[in-house]
Amino acid sequence: WMISSEQLFAQGPVVPVLVIKDVAHAVPLAKALIDGGIRVLEVTLRTPAAIDVIREIADKVPEALIGAGTVTNATQLKQVADAGAKFAISPGLTTELLEAGNASKIALIPGISSISELMKGRDLGYTHFKFFPAEASGGIKALKSIGGPFPDVVFCPTGGIGANNYLDYLALPNVRCVGGSWLAPDDVVAEGNWAKITELATQAVKGAAAVDN
Ligand code: 3PG
Repeated sequence: WMISSEQLFAQGPVVPVLVIKDVAHAVPLAKALIDGGIRVLEVTLRTPAAIDVIREIADKVPEALIGAGTVTNATQLKQVADAGAKFAISPGLTTELLEAGNASKIALIPGISSISELMKGRDLGYTHFKFFPAEASGGIKALKSIGGPFPDVVFCPTGGIGANNYLDYLALPNVRCVGGSWLAPDDVVAEGNWAKITELATQAVKGAAAVDN
């Protein structure tokens, strides 16, 4: 791997989950986040532009650590790796995807929301997971409970996490980073308010720096 899951989780405490509709937004948005101290970027495959956005950021913003989100099968994993993604994140897992992740040149972070899924992922060699949808799946309490039987497993929770609760997640010993769309709200991106994006990123990074974990 160019970057391992472990290295990825150590790159920064907050990972913006990006839904980019317009390729023209890709570079200024990436630069605004980097100016705010965030270099790990997750571009979700939820818009027709997503693959072009990943390619654009990979080509033009070398300081970014660009990855893909909402990767749900082996075909997409290959597509995003070919476009220049350095990692891929999935909301869930299938055997096909886990096996493709093990064979891939980029790190795959599969998503889990149950112990059985975690065990399936672990059986195939994974110890770094997304916990999704975090708030709806029991949030902090669930992660604390999972840490009992599985102290070797670490998470990047996402789903329902924002400025109001991300620090509580980061304080957990089995949480290395958190993800969310709050760092790049749709309306702020649509109006091209890059200064606002930099401000949100700066605040998030500053808050996280104070967490003792
Ligand atoms: C994800 O894909 O990680 C989630 O959609 C992000 O959830 P949020 O919009 O609640 O931050």
